[in-house]
Amino acid sequence: MKTYKIALIKGDGIGPEIIDEAVKVLDFLSSCFDFNFEYKEALMGGCAYEATGDPLPQETIDISLESDAVLFGAIGGFKWDNLPREKRPESGLLRFRKELGVYANLRPAIVYDELVNASSLKPSIVQGVDLMVVRELIGGIYFGEPKGRDENRGWNTMVYTRDEIVRIAHHAFKIAMTRTKKVCSIDKANVLDVSQLWRDVVTEVAKEYPEIELSHMYVDNAAMQLIRDPKQFDVMLTGNIFGDILSDEASMLSGSIGLLPSASVGAKIGVYEPIHGSAPDIAGQGIANPIATISSASMMLRYAFGENAAADKIDNAIKLVLKEGYRTKDLAQFDAKVVCSTSEMGTIIANYVAK
Ligand code: IPM
Ligand code: MG
Repeated sequence: MKTYKIALIKGDGIGPEIIDEAVKVLDFLSSCFDFNFEYKEALMGGCAYEATGDPLPQETIDISLESDAVLFGAIGGFKWDNLPREKRPESGLLRFRKELGVYANLRPAIVYDELVNASSLKPSIVQGVDLMVVRELIGGIYFGEPKGRDENRGWNTMVYTRDEIVRIAHHAFKIAMTRTKKVCSIDKANVLDVSQLWRDVVTEVAKEYPEIELSHMYVDNAAMQLIRDPKQFDVMLTGNIFGDILSDEASMLSGSIGLLPSASVGAKIGVYEPIHGSAPDIAGQGIANPIATISSASMMLRYAFGENAAADKIDNAIKLVLKEGYRTKDLAQFDAKVVCSTSEMGTIIANYVAK
């Protein structure tokens, strides 16, 4: 029997509640397959700051590097908003991504047929949307130097090297080869020098993938096109900050940010996490939607362990549960037959998975 070692970083706010449900589903799943899981918890974010004075203790990096994958909840909260930047939960997360070297952030946005009415856009616009934002995660303006602020000025630097663009472009093209072979690269090449380089390098790398249909789009237009006609997109290749913004936008096509998973990969150890935040306003109430995290666990099985059959089982269970009308509170007004709590939703999905 194979044992996969998973570092669990529950984090802040609703993080612990949603991770517990993903673990529940994983454990049910292991009863149907020839593998099981060994979990080790590690602290990050506000809870880590409270416990150790550091939002990313070295121990968390060590535990993560000794595991086969990291399953991550969410971090942050109003409570820590006024800390100096390097003590803030978000700084811990950024350092974590950098330390692990996970340069490729995969953020699928899928519209489930059962929830087509939950989108704020018309069903005809969103039905069948199935796109993937491939976001560069450890470069760009998030990390560029110089950065800083004084009383009267604040500055950051958007910088990409050729090598950074080459590796994320390859990643996006490889993913596109397993999908519909369409990549739209997003930039602001009409204004930014860094984007001109981005566009040139992506175009060069594309020559190695003759089957791929590559297009380029300015980020402002892309934000508009995502709302006007999202089905025109398959893989959207972006730098760090454009991907941050567009992936939040894309997530709303599906009706709830509580549905969508993500994977941060490209290094030895990948990080699998819901794309939503820690939602401190609803923490501890048992109303958070655990589907994004359970779906992230499915991405982990697929990308980190190659357990595609097991991942399919989770994905199918989620679809079935939604089809049968089970909804957490965020989606209660959309054809709900049963409104369930966070933990009830986890149990229902686990039962379907184990069938
Ligand atoms: C995300 C988040 C993070 C980011 C924050 C919490 C640092 O918004 O994962 O999209 O900006 O990358
Ligand atoms: Mg974001």
